[in-house]
Amino acid sequence: MSAFNAVKLTDRVYWVGAIDWAIRNFHGYQTSRGTTYNAFLILDDKITLIDTVKKPFLSEMMSRISSVVDPEKIDYIVSNHSEMDHTGALPEAMTIIRPEKVYASPNGKKALQKHFHWDPETITTVKTGESLPLGETTLSFIETRMLHWPDSMVSYLAEEKILFSQDGFGMHLASTERFDDELSLHTLDEEAEKYFANILMPFSPLVTRLMSQLKELDLDVELLCPDHGPVWRSHIGRILGKWSEWAQQRPTRKAIVIYDTMWKSTASMADAICNGLSSLGISVRVMPLSSSHMSNVATEVIEAAALIVGSPTINGQIFPTVAACMTYLGSLKPRNMVGAAFGSYGWSGEAPGKLEKMLEDQNIPLAAEALKINYVPDEDALQKATEFGISVGHKLLELCEGD
Ligand code: FEO
Repeated sequence: MSAFNAVKLTDRVYWVGAIDWAIRNFHGYQTSRGTTYNAFLILDDKITLIDTVKKPFLSEMMSRISSVVDPEKIDYIVSNHSEMDHTGALPEAMTIIRPEKVYASPNGKKALQKHFHWDPETITTVKTGESLPLGETTLSFIETRMLHWPDSMVSYLAEEKILFSQDGFGMHLASTERFDDELSLHTLDEEAEKYFANILMPFSPLVTRLMSQLKELDLDVELLCPDHGPVWRSHIGRILGKWSEWAQQRPTRKAIVIYDTMWKSTASMADAICNGLSSLGISVRVMPLSSSHMSNVATEVIEAAALIVGSPTINGQIFPTVAACMTYLGSLKPRNMVGAAFGSYGWSGEAPGKLEKMLEDQNIPLAAEALKINYVPDEDALQKATEFGISVGHKLLELCEGD
């Protein structure tokens, strides 16, 4: 008996992935609920494995495969995405399985060769529109370049109405439940949005294009199988709708105030700015970076129309946690928002000006001139901070009304 069992999705398709209960840091993204690495087995004349798992989870995947079929009977492996959480186990899996063919997109072939230094003959390429007959079923392929790597593609099994969407429509969520309807919608929405924000946000225009492409293709999909998190069977329309919505990054009456502080002066300014914003009926998230992970900030940013950033000046520089968060957010290319900077300082006070430069470099227009307060803010200074919040708030409201 296998230590791990496959999960039947249809009469001929099984989930044979792995559950990573322990992971909390996925290259900088805080994965508070762990994740899964999903691999799928199609039983047909040509037995086919779609994607593999992260290297340390090879034995779990092989065990799940063995619960339904002898791994040596697998004919094909399809690699939809070459990132190592889906291919780390591929070289050893190939040694055990000895497949007749391994398929990937043309960019996937290049990436896999660069990762594993294989002979060019190892991978057979498949392009958009090409098909692979498996017997009674046929897999067809759609390249989804830069969603979110150049190699990314999805595979569609028409007869079973299954779209294997690699990272697309996934989430980092470890669970024994394999289907969306076995989990709470609140958890699904929360983790799917966090995943979109931290992985897909920089590619929002391409996501919008993909959603139109999928609509035009009008694929009949009863199971949407991403490489992370649950398989969608009851809420497919909902997750497609959410992706379309998140890709728009529509500004709403919501502001994010992020800051760090040395002696609570910048923290007091943040509270006063929050008061100013909320006096206009704006929803505010104050996120002290000493206790708020930057991947959670990214999630809040999707719907926000203002990013207000505070930092004390430390030896002429931005406080490191604030600089790191701004660098991270910059890589995610948030759109449709205004920005502003603030901070307390002792003698030189460069940090707010440097933050303004970072905001402008990230194409976030400034809603107000930076607010700097020397040492500890008194009542007048806190009033100025409240007025600063109101002034940024008016720009936020203009942006929302203009959208
Ligand atoms: Fe789940 Fe881009 O790898």
